[in-house]
Amino acid sequence: MLRSFSLEKLEERFGLGFRSNISLAPYTSARIGGLADGVLTANSIDDLVEMVTYLWEEELPFIILGGGSNVLVSDAGVRGIVLLNKARKVVFDEEVDPPTVWAASGTNFGQLSRQAAKRGLGGLEWASGIPGTIGGAIIGNAGAHGGDVAGNLLMAEILHRELEDNRSNNGNSPELAIRREEWGPDLMKFSYRSSLIKEQSANKMHTGDEAKMGRSEFDQPSMVILAALMQLAHSKRDQVEALINEYNARRRETQPAGASMGSMFKNPPGDYAGRLIDEAGLKGIRVGDVAISSLHGNFFINYGNARAADVWELINLAQNIVSSKFGINLELEIELIGAW
Ligand code: EPU
Repeated sequence: MLRSFSLEKLEERFGLGFRSNISLAPYTSARIGGLADGVLTANSIDDLVEMVTYLWEEELPFIILGGGSNVLVSDAGVRGIVLLNKARKVVFDEEVDPPTVWAASGTNFGQLSRQAAKRGLGGLEWASGIPGTIGGAIIGNAGAHGGDVAGNLLMAEILHRELEDNRSNNGNSPELAIRREEWGPDLMKFSYRSSLIKEQSANKMHTGDEAKMGRSEFDQPSMVILAALMQLAHSKRDQVEALINEYNARRRETQPAGASMGSMFKNPPGDYAGRLIDEAGLKGIRVGDVAISSLHGNFFINYGNARAADVWELINLAQNIVSSKFGINLELEIELIGAW
């Protein structure tokens, strides 16, 4: 629990932008999760910079939540601050070749793809069904229909915290340096559903229990994505929208509509998590209010008041059975958040 003076200080500093003891379930696509000690809402990049800088300077534990579509928040919730990213400014540049879009990291990716389509700009058709934000999509190198963030990203604007060990500091604690940087795709080190930022936070998340690599309680990200510049392509509105409609139809046919976290596991090399769970006979299996979709084995659906503990039990069950039947370890694609 944060010390109460900190909560009061946050209230004083951010006014209505700060609320305490807030249920996180409504901020996730799975509608699951306990209380956060405090929630800050950033409505612009300036808010994001100001809030993150404050949290770094005050050494308060925090996480950033975008669309909440690729996360499982624990029933115990978050001991610290959740920063809701609602920075949604978007700027298209159709004069450059290829055309580009610059978007604040809290922009919804699917909406951005459809906005581009209206202008006759293609290149992001694959992203039209992505429910999360640009920031989350970059960190997890989101992808669908053969496309992914790595294929479109030209540059990410990042707020970067470094602790500089100043030797001339006479043994004093390292100094906090905060920089606004522009990272090209090579620096992001993208791989299938991952990036340098995701890997670093996964390493930091290690709490000693291999099975539950939940975020440690007193954690802070050291890099925060503020915005992204993405490459588009000149096209025709009809053409772009036809492709988007085709992808949407395919998605509706193959993926369930209910409250979920999207794909639960990464596809293992050369195979598909959904196919393996299906082959293992696990579709439709239920724990509490959560069940493995009978349409797609890699989707876990909340049918009412599912608890994170129920999801966790199903995750373990699927991993154990797939491992014993096929000798394949399914790795989580979703991120675990909160105190586990
Ligand atoms: N399959 C089964 N049984 C199932 C589910 C799938 O046999 O219950 C088979 C399908 O028939 C197909 C293969 O498994 O041959 C792959 O299935 P699908 O085409 O549905 O794609 P996926 O690999 O499960 C990936 C992404 C999705 C993305 C779709 C569409 C991953 C982990 N998932 O799913 O991304 O929407 O392709 O491009 O890479 C997400 O990441 O959250 C996500 C939804």
